[in-house]
Amino acid sequence: MAPHNSLKTPVCDLFGIEYPIFAAGMGGVTMAPLAGAVSAAGGLGVLGATFCTAKELREEIRALRRITDKPFGVDLLFPSDIPPDLGSREIPRLPDFLRDLLPRITGLKGAPPPPLTLELAKAQLQVCLEEKVPLLVSGLGTPSWLVKQCHGAGTKVASIVGNVRQAKRLEQAGVDLIVAQGLEAGGHVGTVTTLVLVPAVADAVKTPVLAAGGIVDGRGIAAGLVLGAQGAWIGTRFIATKEATAHDNHKKRIVEVDEEGTVVSRSYTGKPSRVLKNEFTDRWKGRDQHLLPMPWQRISVETLVAPAKANGLVDLANFPTGQGSGAIRDIVPAGNLLERLVNETRAALDR
Ligand SMILES: Cc1cc2nc3c(=O)[nH]c(=O)nc-3n(C[C@H](O)[C@H](O)[C@H](O)COP(=O)(O)O)c2cc1C
Repeated sequence: MAPHNSLKTPVCDLFGIEYPIFAAGMGGVTMAPLAGAVSAAGGLGVLGATFCTAKELREEIRALRRITDKPFGVDLLFPSDIPPDLGSREIPRLPDFLRDLLPRITGLKGAPPPPLTLELAKAQLQVCLEEKVPLLVSGLGTPSWLVKQCHGAGTKVASIVGNVRQAKRLEQAGVDLIVAQGLEAGGHVGTVTTLVLVPAVADAVKTPVLAAGGIVDGRGIAAGLVLGAQGAWIGTRFIATKEATAHDNHKKRIVEVDEEGTVVSRSYTGKPSRVLKNEFTDRWKGRDQHLLPMPWQRISVETLVAPAKANGLVDLANFPTGQGSGAIRDIVPAGNLLERLVNETRAALDR
């Protein structure tokens, strides 16, 4: 066994990294500057590539490789219920109960990202395989053909899970790493808390497990290790860094809110997702009958959300954010943050 202060776990050897600390793939936020800084500092940065076209993704991968030659990952979404393509279905309108918000974004710029279809996800995957990306992470389900294709190209596969049943199924499918993410997390969530989920998943599978959801400091990383994980997968804490490509207003709001500043809402993708509590999420309360399945829900609200998001209107758009934001107090360079997390984890484990 390595001594406490090395923080080495088998997952470090699996990926050739110094510390078992992963910067989570966050769509549009963990791009080359952030993922590259974390990998360069000895962790593992994962590009949040869901919103990228295939061409943009290739550019991000190459930009990251100009920052560091250390291992990194790419996060994509392959939900089983997305359509192959958009077909000829009519584009849904913004629901009536949101229309009076439109004048507040009139004139602002911000183009919607490409809608998530299987066609796009497969094109993104193709780029990852051609570029020989070390790690592919999938957030909303991992089909077995995906694992086969990745392994054929020498790419390892991680999958994010919210319960033990999914973890066991993914182990069967041959994934190399399981991220056990509790409902404290920013973005898509299940119903089980991190404290309950991590030991349950660690007991149920032999595959290495990372703890995720609500981890913002070394105490949280140490807790994940004690609960049976081999490392931590951290999202929200990395938004409040200089390199994150989030809007400054999002970073500032994360520093301002307390632990009750977020809410689980289906208002952006149609699936439950933890986001900043604001006027947009309030308007959707009790209106589930207006929700559409993926990818139509996102398409229906993008005329409002895309410009509001691009311009940092944190009260009007969808801003995925975890409950851990209540304990985030500063915006710092990502490399410094990683060093701080390592020192705090060592101190917590020594205590
Ligand atoms: C702004 C933001 C965007 C995210 N986008 C994605 C995404 O595109 N794909 C994905 O699999 N997970 C996404 N997530 C979830 C993260 O990968 C990660 O699991 C989560 O942030 C961990 O919880 P934490 O925020 O409490 O650290 C996102 C999270 C945030 C906060």
